[in-house]
Amino acid sequence: MQINEIEEKKQKIIERFGPWTAGSIHLADQIDTFDEPHWDARLRRFVQIAADLAGKPLEKLRVLDLACLEGQYGIEFALHGADVLAIEGREANLEKVHFAKEVLSLDNLELALNDVRNLDEERHGRFDVVLCLGILYHLDAPDVMDFVERISKVCGKISIIDTHISLSDEASYTWKGKTYWGRYGKEHDTDATSEEKLAALWNSLDNPKAFLFTRASLCNLLRHVGFTSVYECLNPYEYHNPNWPLAAEGDRHVVWRDRITLVAIKGRSQPLLSSPITDASPEIDRPERPEYIEQLPCITGVSRRRSRGLRSRLSRFLPGPVKAVLRRIIQ
Ligand SMILES: C[S@@+](CC[C@H](N)C(=O)[O-])C[C@H]1O[C@@H](n2cnc3c(N)ncnc32)[C@H](O)[C@@H]1O
Repeated sequence: MQINEIEEKKQKIIERFGPWTAGSIHLADQIDTFDEPHWDARLRRFVQIAADLAGKPLEKLRVLDLACLEGQYGIEFALHGADVLAIEGREANLEKVHFAKEVLSLDNLELALNDVRNLDEERHGRFDVVLCLGILYHLDAPDVMDFVERISKVCGKISIIDTHISLSDEASYTWKGKTYWGRYGKEHDTDATSEEKLAALWNSLDNPKAFLFTRASLCNLLRHVGFTSVYECLNPYEYHNPNWPLAAEGDRHVVWRDRITLVAIKGRSQPLLSSPITDASPEIDRPERPEYIEQLPCITGVSRRRSRGLRSRLSRFLPGPVKAVLRRIIQ
């Protein structure tokens, strides 16, 4: 496609669906989706995780990008030669992905306008890498549990889960006999019209609230639905521009305390050969609360007794949610 044709089509998309909101995608010489391109630390993180852990070169992977927004991550994997299916629930977002796919000639990128809650192994098949990025915390219980189970069913090797978590265990939901903890977050006003919901381009499609898991509950759920191990990514580091995505690159960056990237592996549960007693004992759930975990005094600093004293002094006058956060800091 010629440069002026790309520019013309881009303007048409913007007139019809509004400007790009997140995906800063390089389309051609001097043309990006944003007039002032910005960096995205998450891009390096997700590609590196897949390259390091999926067990195949990127160009041999089948990748699923769930709730792809403007398609940046799916497009990145397709540019590396992977076969990618990207699913998105809003036409306004998906039209932007169609445009970038056409400009970049990505025949290996398939796009589907659909609700990710309809993910189905029979219909969609299996994937080496499932990208579950920025979507879990938009779904409500029990859909979010059911969705994680569906991810496990289509996942052949790894799922990358980039998500906000709840730092407090103030709400619970019991699903298939197991209780998961977290908190509810708002997605839409309860009286929002379907047009208003559709116009909130980053939010849930319809549910007015979402259930956010605690870190422990999310890890437990991943195990319950069939993932054999779960890791948290520390490097590459995820950070954001303070005004992301609307400002140009600056020296400062922000890091969300409640944001994590987990990598869940779909392996085979291994027998334990040197210890029949361990082999016979079930894998247990992570406890929600640090006080259920006996910890040895740490070498470097506050002893357990001192930290308990500090916790009980704090307990007297702090409200519950604040205490929950502090408990995690002063373990
Ligand atoms: C915060 S954005 C995250 C996008 C992208 N995956 C990322 O990590 O940057 C959430 C996206 O999920 C989409 N979405 C929300 N609920 C959905 C659903 N049930 N089915 C499909 N897409 C959904 C929204 O339209 C939006 O594109």
